[in-house]
Amino acid sequence: MAAVDEAPSSGGDEEEHVTGEFDFDEVNLEPTERVEVDGDNVDESWEVGDDILDVAQLEIDTENFGELRLTETAITKVQAGLKLLIETVGSVEAAGDAIYSTLFEAAPSLQSLFKTPRAVQGMKFAMSIANIVAKLRQPDEVKTIVDQLSFQHITTEVTIPRIEVFRDALLELFASELGDDVFTDDIRVNLARIFHYMGGAFIYVRNNYWTRLQLVNQCWALAHKQEEGAQGFEGDGDEGGEQSPKKGSEKSEKAEKSPNKSGKGFCCWRKKEEETEQSGHHQEGGNGASVAASMTASMEEGKGTKHSKMGGIGKNKVPTTFPEMFKFNATVMGYGHSEWMAPVLDVFDTMVVHATEPTRVMEEADVLSIVLSKVNMRGHQIEFLEFKAVLLASLRSLLPKTWNSECEVAWTWLWGSFERMLKANIGKPQVQQKALRKLYSTITEEQLEAVRTGIYKTFFEKCAQGQDYFKQSSTRLHFIADRMINFTQEIFKDPKGVMTDLSALGLRHVGYGIPTELFGPFVSAAIEQIREITKVPDQEEAFRWSIGLISRVLCRTITEGSTLVMRAINANCAKMLRKAVSIAPRGSRAECMLKIQVGTQSISPLLWSIQSGSLEAAEAILLDLLTIRADRDHYYYAMEALFIRHSDIVKRICTDGPDLLPTLFNGLIWRSRQAENGVRRVNYFIKYLIVDAKSGFSESFRDVVDNGDPAAACHPSVVLAADLVWSRLASYTFLTSKLWFLLNLLVFVITQAVLTDYSGEQSSAQILAVFIGRIFIYIFGMGQLILRHMYNFSKSCRAGDTRMIVCIPVPGYLFSFSECLSAFLCLTMVGMLAQEPLLHCLGKNLGDQQFSALSANCSTGLELTGSYATFAFLATLLYFLLLLELSVFSTKLSTFVLVCGRMVQEAAQYLFALTFVVITFACAIASSDVMNEQFMNIGPAMLNLSRIMLGMYSSDEYQYLELEPKLLMSISVFVICTTIFLFNLLIAQLNCAYMGIFKDMLGYARLNRGSVILENVSRSSKHRWTKFVESLQMDEKLEFNEGDIGLAGGIQVLESASANPVTSDSIKRYGGSTCPTAPWPETANEVDIEDKVDRLEKIIEKAVKRITKASNKSQSGSGASSMASGSSSGSSGGI
Ligand code: HEM
Repeated sequence: MAAVDEAPSSGGDEEEHVTGEFDFDEVNLEPTERVEVDGDNVDESWEVGDDILDVAQLEIDTENFGELRLTETAITKVQAGLKLLIETVGSVEAAGDAIYSTLFEAAPSLQSLFKTPRAVQGMKFAMSIANIVAKLRQPDEVKTIVDQLSFQHITTEVTIPRIEVFRDALLELFASELGDDVFTDDIRVNLARIFHYMGGAFIYVRNNYWTRLQLVNQCWALAHKQEEGAQGFEGDGDEGGEQSPKKGSEKSEKAEKSPNKSGKGFCCWRKKEEETEQSGHHQEGGNGASVAASMTASMEEGKGTKHSKMGGIGKNKVPTTFPEMFKFNATVMGYGHSEWMAPVLDVFDTMVVHATEPTRVMEEADVLSIVLSKVNMRGHQIEFLEFKAVLLASLRSLLPKTWNSECEVAWTWLWGSFERMLKANIGKPQVQQKALRKLYSTITEEQLEAVRTGIYKTFFEKCAQGQDYFKQSSTRLHFIADRMINFTQEIFKDPKGVMTDLSALGLRHVGYGIPTELFGPFVSAAIEQIREITKVPDQEEAFRWSIGLISRVLCRTITEGSTLVMRAINANCAKMLRKAVSIAPRGSRAECMLKIQVGTQSISPLLWSIQSGSLEAAEAILLDLLTIRADRDHYYYAMEALFIRHSDIVKRICTDGPDLLPTLFNGLIWRSRQAENGVRRVNYFIKYLIVDAKSGFSESFRDVVDNGDPAAACHPSVVLAADLVWSRLASYTFLTSKLWFLLNLLVFVITQAVLTDYSGEQSSAQILAVFIGRIFIYIFGMGQLILRHMYNFSKSCRAGDTRMIVCIPVPGYLFSFSECLSAFLCLTMVGMLAQEPLLHCLGKNLGDQQFSALSANCSTGLELTGSYATFAFLATLLYFLLLLELSVFSTKLSTFVLVCGRMVQEAAQYLFALTFVVITFACAIASSDVMNEQFMNIGPAMLNLSRIMLGMYSSDEYQYLELEPKLLMSISVFVICTTIFLFNLLIAQLNCAYMGIFKDMLGYARLNRGSVILENVSRSSKHRWTKFVESLQMDEKLEFNEGDIGLAGGIQVLESASANPVTSDSIKRYGGSTCPTAPWPETANEVDIEDKVDRLEKIIEKAVKRITKASNKSQSGSGASSMASGSSSGSSGGI
């Protein structure tokens, strides 16, 4: 019996990797190559040449596990049958569901065996069957799959009667879906053969290996339990250098998390070894293992181990964990120098924990063999027997009471399997690395290009389905091929680093929705291309091994990462998603939508759905996360989990799916159904719109403002957050920062508009006051502006934040309206200073000592008055325009200001049109034979046309126009164009624009306030910020209704009961178990309702099909009979 001779066996051919799981979205039942039958193995296989047509006559072989060989016709029929079933029910998933229902209905007694939720279990059934049927032409691969399945079923009590129940139920399903016409006896029998083969293998593997694996598992679990106990006993005595393998998987993850752990582990091993030596190891030459065993015997009994004299692991340090015990024993037994043991120890837990998964063990063994080859290259001899000795001694030491000869046999057997896998590869990685190095160093650029192109060409020829996934440009595809080739080399240099990268890459492939079955053809295509360019078998073999390993790691990651949630995202189906999460334990329901961890790498389904444009699924996730659910003991609401996991969620949504923003913000609001005294409670869970996880100001708020969407800025959640920050913190800082500006404005207005008098009749005191005022303005007003703009200017330039305006680079900060105005004000004030008459006269009259001499009598001053006054006029306008910034205090005022600003654009268009008409008419009139002096030349004509337009033309002047009818006609047309047409057009335009703009303006006003908030929050002191956050008391739980203490993280406000009528409570409350590991009850679930509707739909569809079929048959029957009767009557007539 060849198959499972050596317990956890390998996954077969590395090139054509097969996973135990099957991607049921993509059933590939295309004919595959038939594997040549090896004559020697024929007797191990099922003979199928018989003519049995009754399922009951088939036997289940539990004594042997060979290969399953069906005839070509049988394979074709079975595959076609399965394909038809899948088509009939709609999808593989639906097939899974149907199988599950059929099994449950047929055999209620078996229900207790299925602990996994319906959706997952159904999927597993369908995947396994489809996977096996797809590979029927490759019996060796079918065997590998069944081998893996058998190990997965090793804990299940599979019996012959149970297999028969399963078989009958499944055959019944086929029969009912396909009908007896299609589901013929030979399909039935061959399907039964497959089920028998699988069932027989399950029993065979269980009978032969289950006891041993069970024992191994028990020992391992007990050893860890021991560790936990010992750790509790030891308190903090653990140095933290070693991890406690509480759970195998947990530990293996941790081990992976620190890629250099092996080195680190070894260092501390060496250190401890030295400590051992220093402490004068008295066991020298003696049986270290037994010493350790006797020491830990007392540990297992829970007696003062702490006080035992431990000579090995460290002073006063008891080895409490398996790795510690192992190192201790290794040192004591004199193997402390065996550097190679450290990396083996690192992965040992993973290998033991996954002992029932042959492919996983094989994968670990392959990676380990690369690591070991490096150790080997450093001249360290690898003696696996040493490891075995230390392993057994350590287990003996940790489990002195439990350990017996059966344990010894089981562990020896397990280690034997590991050892065989490691030995099979020992020494090979060096050779392969060398071969690959040589291959890549000799390869030319043209050859590489041919490989890149050829991989995809061959792949598409082998597997047309692959084309649906590789639709990117050639450059991108070549990049992927390059990365693939790189990995094959890198894995030899840095196996652990590459494993981490591959985990991340695998998760990306989960996101791309790549079925694992495509990896086989893809890898084969790559190997074929390499074969084309090298004739050295070693090089090809090295590439094959390396790419095979990479592919297996990727496939495993995809299988582990392909959760139902990810599948729903790939299908962008909200219903699938709801179904997928409905089976998750309530305590970790949010996690399955926020994080999928494989090894050290993780992927966020939510983020992926947003990034990949699966917005329907993303919306379903957000809705689910932000639904408040409750049982008697707890409230479940994933707002916090969402913002902690994705502090940039608002930004991501704004960038990739802005339509989801309302869903997110709506989910932060809970409104009570009950109203009291005309008001209702509303809880806004907006903590993370105000603070971040580190209690700083929230980036989410900044993201809303930066996004610039007025609708989002007006959402009640955002409005409340903004109002709180504004009213309690930012407005104060803003006002204090504007006080100086207000003082400047006051001084400016008093000096320029009140005290300054250009008539030259000022008193000395007035002049003195003006002089002092202007000095103040220049020093404090202008000086401050200059400094600020110099700082901003240099900051923008240093950051490269410049934009070109007519070939002139302009610093980015000047594109803000207020900054631009302020820059103009600064320039105008510089102009004022340059033209300042008082300063010019001061220079001329220094000798006078009389301030009165600075009066308007100074001739230089008089010359500059005109230009100075213009600058002063502009500066006053700019000052007041800047004052408009204060409108931010009132959103209504701010809205109005913004509306006016927007309207300016419309008015500017009108002015442009007006100027054009004026110039046109002025030129036209001036070029005619007009005698009126006011219109003879272009200039005066333009002036007078403007006066006419503004109604400043007197009636006397109009009388002169009557003297020249041509001129009168022209002016009349001009008036019609401007005053009647253009003016009314402007009114209409403003009207429409106002209606269009106003609805957004409130949002823009809020966005404007938002940016002021951002600016001022960063200016306020840490103390003020902390006080503000504390005052919000967002860490205290909020009441929902009276006496119902709910969730923290929000602010409660009361709103008018009529504002947002609520008819049903948005909190979903469930009775029954309150255990966090239980999913929410299905009966109360929408998914259940959706399911029922679906099933009903299917039943109706089926019924309609049957009725149509039946009516067609009866029609053809009656047609035939009528024809028959017609012919008979004809013949009788003839007779
Ligand atoms: C050994 C096998 C493979 C390796 C080493 C590999 C490697 C890679 C790498 C390095 C990327 C780029 C990742 C990124 O930057 O996001 C990638 C992307 C991708 N891979 Fe694979 N891949 C393998 C097999 C496959 C197979 C079999 C398929 C499907 C037929 C596939 C489909 C894709 C797709 C669709 C992308 C995304 C390309 C894009 O949108 O830019 N890969 N792969």
